[in-house]
Amino acid sequence: MTERKIVKIVTGVPGPKSRQLYSEMEQNVPRGPAHMTPIAVASAKGATLTDVDGNTYIDFAGGIGVLNVGHCPDEVVQAIKEQADKYLHTCFHVTFYESYIRLANKLNTMTPGQFPKKTIFLNSGAEAVENAIKIAKYYTKRYGILSFLEGFHGRTAAAMSLTGQIQPYKYNFGPPIPWIYHLPFAYCYRCPFSQTYPSCEVACAKYVEQVFASVISSDAVAALIVEPVQGEGGFIVPPKEFLLEIYEICKARGIVFIDDEVQTGIARTGKLFAIEHSSIEPDLITTAKSVGGGMVLSAVTGKAEIMDAPHPGGLGGTYAGHPLSCQAGLAALDLVEKNNLIARANTIGDKIKQTFLAMQEKYPLIGDVRGLGAMVAMELVKDRKTKEPAPKEAALVRERCYQNGLIVIGAGIHHNVIRTLAPLVITDEELEEGLSILDEAFRSISID
Ligand SMILES: Cc1ncc(COP(=O)(O)O)c(C=O)c1O
Repeated sequence: MTERKIVKIVTGVPGPKSRQLYSEMEQNVPRGPAHMTPIAVASAKGATLTDVDGNTYIDFAGGIGVLNVGHCPDEVVQAIKEQADKYLHTCFHVTFYESYIRLANKLNTMTPGQFPKKTIFLNSGAEAVENAIKIAKYYTKRYGILSFLEGFHGRTAAAMSLTGQIQPYKYNFGPPIPWIYHLPFAYCYRCPFSQTYPSCEVACAKYVEQVFASVISSDAVAALIVEPVQGEGGFIVPPKEFLLEIYEICKARGIVFIDDEVQTGIARTGKLFAIEHSSIEPDLITTAKSVGGGMVLSAVTGKAEIMDAPHPGGLGGTYAGHPLSCQAGLAALDLVEKNNLIARANTIGDKIKQTFLAMQEKYPLIGDVRGLGAMVAMELVKDRKTKEPAPKEAALVRERCYQNGLIVIGAGIHHNVIRTLAPLVITDEELEEGLSILDEAFRSISID
């Protein structure tokens, strides 16, 4: 095995303390919140993480896309400490505070769209999605919602209903909320119409017209929600025409276009928001994850006219837009600018993509390599011709990785995708070492 400069595995993984905590967890915590690794964290900084046994890892998961500015940046930690010394919570509905307003202004300014905007803060991505849907319904006085197969929008009732993946998100959780209709997404590697881009002329985007003719009238549809790159679905990047086509259809039919940037936002794809790779100006944008720099924060930003539709008291929440989170968010967005993380996302993304493509030449298991900016993934298949998914092999690669000091997570409706969401502050050395661990994992399972 190659000598490591950053990674330090001193006990084997999982170490004894992680094992002990794991068994205590099994006694006290239900199995619902699953674990991608058996590792208990002790501390983290930048793009590395140290466990309770003293093993140090390179982190390609970034708390599932939450840590674009890295683990514990000094500026974010300082902002939280300063706020904690003043007040922790008063509730925005009782006495409002400056950080909420400043951060709202920042998002109103930074998001695409040449029109007046307003922002409301919530806690989780799912909560942002729930609120975006409520706002769109209130504004349009319509109740139908369109979303996409393989899409993911969260685990609460409406967000789960919008999600286009049965396992693990919807299975056995009962009927979805009514009036939600799923459309095919432009998953070109597994085209739902068995066609090939560009000769398909994005037939998948046009399918919505069939839905309007036979399932729900377009004048009953309040909103369409879409991830500009599907995250949990397996980092599926649609052709530009796909998003443009559905956007134009929404515009022509008075349907609110909701751009779910929970995973793609805040510089991840090499633009501040992934939708900026197109000319689309979404009516509403949902953000979460990296917007809070590691703190609990989500937002809905959108056209002032739409955002202002619901009556006072109809939106919000006790903790929504918490002072610690708003201060962390302000500091995190400053860091994106100061550290030029948009450019860095492109550099990192190029490096990862080139490495994955080179690996694809060596390992037949890698069927597809795709991504946008620093949101890059590979889809594993047992056979490149039949494209039979290889979920067990994907799990084995991830396991070999964490055992050797790289934390990397999966995705995909078939659970056969390996995705990278490394903090954008990762150094070249860390990135190089992480990628070499991944390569070794593939080599080891090819030999087994
Ligand atoms: C696109 C998208 N929307 C919504 C969510 C839900 O966010 P949360 O887990 O914070 O509720 C996620 C989470 O991964 C996501 O990727």
